[in-house]
Amino acid sequence: MSQAPAPVTVVGIGADGWEGLAPLSRQALREAEVLLGGPRQLDLLPAGECAGERVAWPSPLRPAVPGLLAEHAGRRVCVLASGDPTFFGIGRTLAEVLGGTERLRVLPHPSSVSHACARLGWPLEETEVVSAVGRPLAALAAALHDGRRVLLLSAGAGTPAEVAHLLCERGFGPSRLSVLEQLGGERERRTDGTAEDWPHPPGDALNVVAVECRRAPGAPRLGLTPGLPDDAFAHDGQLTKRHVRAATLAALAPAPGELLWDVGGGSGSVAVEWMRAHRSCRAVSIERDPVRAGRITRNADTLGVPGLRVVTGAAPAALAGLPTPDAIFIGGGLTAPGLLQACWDALPAGGRLVANTVTLESEALLAAWYRRHGGDLTRLAVAHAVGVGGFTGWRQAMPVTQWSVVKSAPNEGESPA
Ligand SMILES: C[S@@+](CC[C@H](N)C(=O)[O-])C[C@H]1O[C@@H](n2cnc3c(N)ncnc32)[C@H](O)[C@@H]1O
Repeated sequence: MSQAPAPVTVVGIGADGWEGLAPLSRQALREAEVLLGGPRQLDLLPAGECAGERVAWPSPLRPAVPGLLAEHAGRRVCVLASGDPTFFGIGRTLAEVLGGTERLRVLPHPSSVSHACARLGWPLEETEVVSAVGRPLAALAAALHDGRRVLLLSAGAGTPAEVAHLLCERGFGPSRLSVLEQLGGERERRTDGTAEDWPHPPGDALNVVAVECRRAPGAPRLGLTPGLPDDAFAHDGQLTKRHVRAATLAALAPAPGELLWDVGGGSGSVAVEWMRAHRSCRAVSIERDPVRAGRITRNADTLGVPGLRVVTGAAPAALAGLPTPDAIFIGGGLTAPGLLQACWDALPAGGRLVANTVTLESEALLAAWYRRHGGDLTRLAVAHAVGVGGFTGWRQAMPVTQWSVVKSAPNEGESPA
């Protein structure tokens, strides 16, 4: 019994091509008037079975999707996707463009990571997945923890060697690597080794790299909670130090998907730790000094958050046009005319603002804003034990004054500035 087809059907297809497709997927492809897909995927369809017009995706794909769908509106359109279409795939774009599932039918196939876990005997729910397809490989660094298992979706044949290089650079040279090529297909192949001993030449472009993380003896151990050691960051002294940074991130309270403005980024440590809190967290660092701005980008790469956006320029002018933040941290520039007001104005109701300072001039400003808007005004005085002759004494760091506030809606007690 045939059912009216959904306007757009997405069919997941694996390296086993037509042979590996479920009956429903075959039927959708046979009935399609238009077949959209990458050239490699279109080639997997036997001409005798699928008579629809074949249209290869252009590159870049995302901007072309609405136009292509409009061009073929009213016809039975089948889109080919690799593996599970909703897992790092075209399914996401189509759901966004078509506005949900009413005009979209998705027929999934096992993803490459399901195949990989099947071959390796790994539980998928305990396995970290990182994609290097159209994204910077540097994100892998945030997933490296001793004993953890990571699957890396490769961008091409050269990716495994790049993974091995990155692991060695980050102190994870002893990690075991397995490159799994053409999973589920006739040309499936597996290559094993360690990152520090990776002599293998590039193989098939279609591959997944499995990593069993092993930290080298003496390599830095970077935990999950904010408050990484200061020497995890390259810096010139302009760095929110570890204990104050941990308290600052606690006040900023990142949640998945949220956007931070890190005003006066310095070395970027606050924005980096915000982004490490969850892979969907986003941040913009605004830093007037171009040398420091470059260093922020490098710290973001080293610590696995290459998506950190850096704006080189002086606030408040440099804040113009930035997307609305969920939270703002001010680590520098507090006395720049209009800076605090501009940050406050940019913050939506319910947004958090945290400002740190060590100077009396900025402290006076924070005290005035605290009187006006409430929140918490806190003094953080950290001392470290150091050698004093043959004894031990406290070395006091400059005390940091921190104002932390949640912006209330205009009718909830906010008085005009
Ligand atoms: C104390 S550092 C911030 C430390 C930073 N949170 C970190 O952990 O690296 C202050 C930084 O603010 C920058 N800065 C000062 N005034 C600024 C302004 N108006 N706009 C942008 N950046 C500014 C300085 O160049 C300096 O790098």
